[in-house]
Amino acid sequence: MKIFLDTANLESIKKYNDMGVLDGITTNPTLLSKEQGSPEEIMRAIVSMVRGDVSLEVIGTESAQIIEEAHHLKKYGQNVVVKIPMIPEGLKALTTLSSEGISTNVTLVFSANQALLAAKAGATYVSPFIGRLDDIGHNGMSIVKSIVSIFRNYQFKTQVLVASIRHPDHVVQAAEIGADVVTLPPDILGKLMRHPLTDKGLEAFLSDWERIGNESPKLRK
Ligand code: G3P
Repeated sequence: MKIFLDTANLESIKKYNDMGVLDGITTNPTLLSKEQGSPEEIMRAIVSMVRGDVSLEVIGTESAQIIEEAHHLKKYGQNVVVKIPMIPEGLKALTTLSSEGISTNVTLVFSANQALLAAKAGATYVSPFIGRLDDIGHNGMSIVKSIVSIFRNYQFKTQVLVASIRHPDHVVQAAEIGADVVTLPPDILGKLMRHPLTDKGLEAFLSDWERIGNESPKLRK
């Protein structure tokens, strides 16, 4: 399963990119609005920092605007994936863009039927937002399960990118179901690599090493 970072924060991207755990990035207008500086410059910087796919979202809601924006965004780099909202005009644009060989990520997917339509129109990725479904009392992960099994039944190449992840257990569930990608906010990716017993165990190793007269390095938290 690929791991993407769901952020427009360059510092977080650098931190996790340097660890070698990132397969790509997803951004959206809300994430860009949280950062200082021009969204265009931030998007360009992300595209050049990361080797894997970088989803950049269009703002247009008419197919012609979406297609024009997609062509513009694609100029930022080879690894750009154009993120398109799951609306009828989005599907129309998607059909054209997939026939042109442009990679796409259909976002704001909240049902298996929406995912099926996006796959039929040639989406590279579909992004079910599971946390937002959980927030309104639905079971977001059950949608992921349906999408994965539908795509398997009909051998769709479209990848299932699980988005709106709220906690580490969502990641385990997505991997058990066989989703292709999870996109994680930086704090969730941080939580994935920590365990209190790892920290406790390492502290014990280092203090035992010191107790027998050696020096041990300061542990960075
Ligand atoms: O990629 C966007 C998606 O992950 C949104 O997450 O937390 O705003 O529901 P959230």
